[in-house]
Amino acid sequence: MQGKKTILSIETSCDETAMALVRCSGTLKSPKFEVLQNIVSSQIAIHRPFGGVVPNLAKREHIKNLPKIFKQLLKKEKGLIKKIDLIAVTVGPGLEPALWTGINFAQELSAKIKKPLIGANHMEGHLYSGLLPAGKKIKKNSDSKVQFPAVALVVSGGHTMLLHMTALNKWTKLGETLDDAAGEAFDKVGRILGLPYPGGPEIQKSAAKGNPEAVKFPRPMLNKKNYEFSFSGLKTSVLYFLRDNPTFNKSDIAASFQRAAVDVLTKKTMRAAEEFKAKTILLCGGVSANKPLQESLRTESGRMKIKFIVPDFEYNTDNAAMIAVAGYMSLLGRKKKLPMEAQGNLTI
Ligand code: KG4
Ligand code: ZN
Repeated sequence: MQGKKTILSIETSCDETAMALVRCSGTLKSPKFEVLQNIVSSQIAIHRPFGGVVPNLAKREHIKNLPKIFKQLLKKEKGLIKKIDLIAVTVGPGLEPALWTGINFAQELSAKIKKPLIGANHMEGHLYSGLLPAGKKIKKNSDSKVQFPAVALVVSGGHTMLLHMTALNKWTKLGETLDDAAGEAFDKVGRILGLPYPGGPEIQKSAAKGNPEAVKFPRPMLNKKNYEFSFSGLKTSVLYFLRDNPTFNKSDIAASFQRAAVDVLTKKTMRAAEEFKAKTILLCGGVSANKPLQESLRTESGRMKIKFIVPDFEYNTDNAAMIAVAGYMSLLGRKKKLPMEAQGNLTI
């Protein structure tokens, strides 16, 4: 099926209020995307004093930000309403009070401007974020970019999983984390080290000044012959190490923790790539912003002559452009429409 749709997308699953306008065209096998607008309003400063996202604060901020961002879009994109063919909104997974704000806004807008509305899965958005062109230009043959079979490492604040993909809309889950997600581990270790929220980017920054060989932290699940992960033991090791060595250089600890996490993520992904004879490795989700992780997977993929795809920096962490892609792909390929209600635990 071939389609051509300009999608207004809305994302409020966590602490970013985001809206985008994306021109989508092409088929399920060869979709193309042109990002016309991409606005992300981060609430990090508001949640930072609490050391994590406070759901009701997130809800309040989304309610305040959504009409503001929509007004900005109206100003930036001439003839916006006429251009919209479809509205896509994240219905899960995420924080339900936060998700509802986006859904309610989308429903009201859909009724007001008389455009259809579909629900999108946030994790599918991450999975497809590597299809979005860097910058605003259309990516030629973004289709041919992913060659199958492919292995996708999805690493965010709430999820860590490996997928085996045989087409853009066909995959099976090989394994996921048994406890903390990778991003969650970065955030918790950040807190242990006294770094501001979110810990991920702060650990990367601190680690750049440290020695990754300074502390030999455990590599959880590395020797298990499965594709499951576990990060809570690694986090606890950092906690105990700091308790027993309170004056130890924090950057060395950050670098050693990061090296352990990157090691496990890389080795499990490469093992899956080998077993399933992957032609492409996709890295996505907020933790895909991590440069040492990108470098490690790029190097190993290169060694095995496998194509490596990571989203452009503006699409690593939460954004709405990826939600337009998820909406478009589900429209082209989909089985069942997602109900218009917040589904905190929606799976991929
Ligand atoms: O995908 P995302 O924006 O939100 C969720 O869907 O969860 O991911 C956010 C997560 C946070 O845990 C954050 O610390 C982590 O991604 N993150 C990073 C980096 N940038 C963001 N983790 C490691 N290194 C980074 N540079
Ligand atoms: Zn996310």
